[in-house]
Amino acid sequence: MSRLPVEQLLPMEAHLEWQALGQELAAHDIRYHQQDAPVISDADYDALRRRYDAILAAFPELQRQATAIARVGAKPSERFSKIRHVVPMLSLANTFSDEEVGEFVDRVRRFLDWPEARELTFTAEPKIDGLSCSIRYEKGLLTKAATRGDGEEGEDVTANVRTIRSIPQRLRGDVPSVLEVRGEVYMATADFLALNARQEADGKPPFANPRNAAAGSLRQLDPSITASRPLTFFAYAWGAIEGDLPSETQSGMVAAFGSMGLPVNPLTKRCVSVEEMIAHYRLIEEKRPTLGYDIDGVVYKVDDLALQQRLGFISRSPRWATARKFPAEQARTVLLDIDIQVGRTGALTPVAKLQPITVGGVVVSNATLHNEDEIARKDVRVGDTVIVQRAGDVIPQIVAVVLEQRPEGAKAYEFPHLCPACGSHAVREIDPKTGEAEVARRCTAGLICPAQATERLKHFASRNAFDIEGLGDKQIEAFYSDGIITRPRDIFTLEARDARSLKKLKDREGYGETSVKKLFAAIVARRYVALNRFIFGLGIRHVGETTAKQLARHFGSIQRLREVAVQASADGEVAKAELTGIDGIGPILAGSIVDFFGEAHNLEELDALMAYVTPEAMEAVAAESPVSGKTVVFTGALERMSRDEAKAMAERLGAKVSGSVSKKTDLVVAGPGAGSKLADAKKHGVEVISEDEWFERVGG
Ligand code: IVH
Repeated sequence: MSRLPVEQLLPMEAHLEWQALGQELAAHDIRYHQQDAPVISDADYDALRRRYDAILAAFPELQRQATAIARVGAKPSERFSKIRHVVPMLSLANTFSDEEVGEFVDRVRRFLDWPEARELTFTAEPKIDGLSCSIRYEKGLLTKAATRGDGEEGEDVTANVRTIRSIPQRLRGDVPSVLEVRGEVYMATADFLALNARQEADGKPPFANPRNAAAGSLRQLDPSITASRPLTFFAYAWGAIEGDLPSETQSGMVAAFGSMGLPVNPLTKRCVSVEEMIAHYRLIEEKRPTLGYDIDGVVYKVDDLALQQRLGFISRSPRWATARKFPAEQARTVLLDIDIQVGRTGALTPVAKLQPITVGGVVVSNATLHNEDEIARKDVRVGDTVIVQRAGDVIPQIVAVVLEQRPEGAKAYEFPHLCPACGSHAVREIDPKTGEAEVARRCTAGLICPAQATERLKHFASRNAFDIEGLGDKQIEAFYSDGIITRPRDIFTLEARDARSLKKLKDREGYGETSVKKLFAAIVARRYVALNRFIFGLGIRHVGETTAKQLARHFGSIQRLREVAVQASADGEVAKAELTGIDGIGPILAGSIVDFFGEAHNLEELDALMAYVTPEAMEAVAAESPVSGKTVVFTGALERMSRDEAKAMAERLGAKVSGSVSKKTDLVVAGPGAGSKLADAKKHGVEVISEDEWFERVGG
């Protein structure tokens, strides 16, 4: 290639060529150092390196970015270690329409008791479609970087993040002594296309979209590969901070990040009305095709940080923010077949098998059909051309059938009445309250059904339950079909049985001495497990992680939960009331808890399991606080916070909030106008304090 003499290059040309050379060199470094497969001669390599250095010498402003390349050739890091997020990395609730944005604002105002007439500012900014990353600076120097992971713990990607040119190694100006900057690592569209072209030229599979490419590039064990991939970053949030906050507002914080040298998104705007928020969404939507990077919506955040603090979190997302997602993307394809999957609770779920099609940059070959009624309502038939829609990470859906393209003779779909996994009857139970049939048709065989049994085992060993490493879905399926693990207790007897067996696990396909040892160690480690994980792992219908935590907190032991549930199933009104008295547990949930403990085979399995497993105290929810573990009742008019806010605050501090006063109540917070609850408190000798005293006590 003929090249202009360096001194004739315009700055822009120099920049582009230098960047391209950097990437080329990095790729050659990898081929040479890691793959032992150089594709150019040493002389050619040296010529490239000389040109690279010459450009750098002529355009010293490129120096700042040179660090990344200098690091190329660094040895591959050891396997990713984990980093615990001191401040969890949360996700965002979604809204899909103008109305829902209005509702979000209304909710915030209601929660804060913020009158319509009083101005409330929100920020609006693009929602970047990349992967979030937390970058820690100490005394202004980059020390650690982690992916989001499960929000509590992420992967240590420090070495990789150091190679991203737009992320400064050192922050400018006056910065807090510790600052964890959070934001999105992403790949620009042009860089993504170029990367895929290179992948294909190298005979490697292309990435499905820029997000996957960014994730694949950041989560590399070898930082020099990350260095060769053009990643970028936008800062939009933060985690732990020690020292003075640079600002008291969201927008001020982000502006401060900008002046520290971090890239921030220029489309961030402060809005003081729902109309402005919607107008900014429209503007971003309009600019979307020409931004040069993928976004999947707009994020709104309450600007005032003190208000963010008051609003707090609900489950895993902040009450003070929401994402307005762009409408889903759609495409047409042919429905090849309908597969019926049997879930943990026996529900038969229809899955559409599709002629693979790209929707919004992702190849889709399966879509959910929800349930029997949905298929009938849309009259979906095998052979039909259907419209498939996908939005973000949500499972693709079939929105409609293109009737004009229905093949002749296509028959209406008949939903099976027998379980495809075990042949037992599958029925739709009648809800005794409404008298209507449930939406799901369920296999009646319970654990005799292999599909239900394996799904239950998968759930039991899964990450948020027992979290047994090395016992994933595939392993469970194989162990189940060979009769090695058919019930939860079998997991804990596996090692002893293997010691006696002639057909050793280590001789199985895909196993060896080390992996078997690891598996046994992972199982032994779970003989002590947090009570909430234990309860969640039981797979009681409707009992998700949050409910499991509530049950663990309330009952404190599995025996106590079992006692109450068994009593309730023998028609114990008091026991039933204890269940429904727990915040967030309604009659349906209580019913399924009672049903679970009413089944002899569940109790039998529980007994067997308890011989091996000791459920331990609940995982910490909140740090120790003066009210943790206490049952609190709020009554009367509260003046400094709304009732919802009071409840959320108490729960955040580890207290349980109840609606009525009994002898189990520890504390009543009474505002003006408190009536019968105050009298009840006196009767039971419960401590009563004012709202101001509450704040003094919890340090608000
Ligand atoms: S704020 C506490 N702002 O969206 C909430 N998130 O769906 C902090 N994301 O996990 C998130 N652009 O990875 C925020 N401008 C933006 C964002 C953004 C993209 C991602 C982030 C988050 C996910 C939630």
